[in-house]
Amino acid sequence: MIKETEPFYEAEKTLRLLYPKGLFVTAGKEQPNTMTIGWGNLGINWSKPCFTILVAGSRYTHSLIERDGEFTVSVPYTEMARELAYVGTHSGRDEDKYESCNLKTAAGIHIPTAHIDCIGMHYECKVIDVLEVSRDRLDPAVYEKRYAKTQDFHTVYFGEILASYLQEE
Ligand SMILES: Cc1cc2nc3c(=O)[nH]c(=O)nc-3n(C[C@H](O)[C@H](O)[C@H](O)COP(=O)(O)O)c2cc1C
Repeated sequence: MIKETEPFYEAEKTLRLLYPKGLFVTAGKEQPNTMTIGWGNLGINWSKPCFTILVAGSRYTHSLIERDGEFTVSVPYTEMARELAYVGTHSGRDEDKYESCNLKTAAGIHIPTAHIDCIGMHYECKVIDVLEVSRDRLDPAVYEKRYAKTQDFHTVYFGEILASYLQEE
């Protein structure tokens, strides 16, 4: 059963599960793909409720969000460590990850992009601004730790939360 909620319903639970366990991010209107995120924020930007996520330029999901301007975030309330690890270490460029780890998607309710069919919270988001992380003003310690070797900088997507809901079963 799906219960529509206000955007920050169980926000604390979402943030506790985001790090270090990770959440599912799905993008791709016609052919969806899902990756794991561990970095992000729930909050208000420009008076709008937003889920802000950081996606590295190398991710296949990055190209899908760039193309479609939307994504969903799914917060699993049951144990899905195996699935989070799988979609967080394999790329949708090379395979259909849903088949590989038996994950199911469900159709979006307010946007075309699907979400993971799991018990938990779901957020449907439209990208309303995009920032590129760069070396310029980044804490040098963060640069050294996260980017010096790979130069695989993250893009910050501000996703206005158009709908949020709790899937109870
Ligand atoms: C726990 C966990 C958290 C992660 N957090 C992020 C993140 O916040 N941003 C990011 O770009 N990649 C993150 N990743 C890595 C991506 O999920 C991973 O590179 C994935 O394979 C990308 O899939 P894609 O190429 O199909 O988009 C994380 C991986 C794990 C296991």
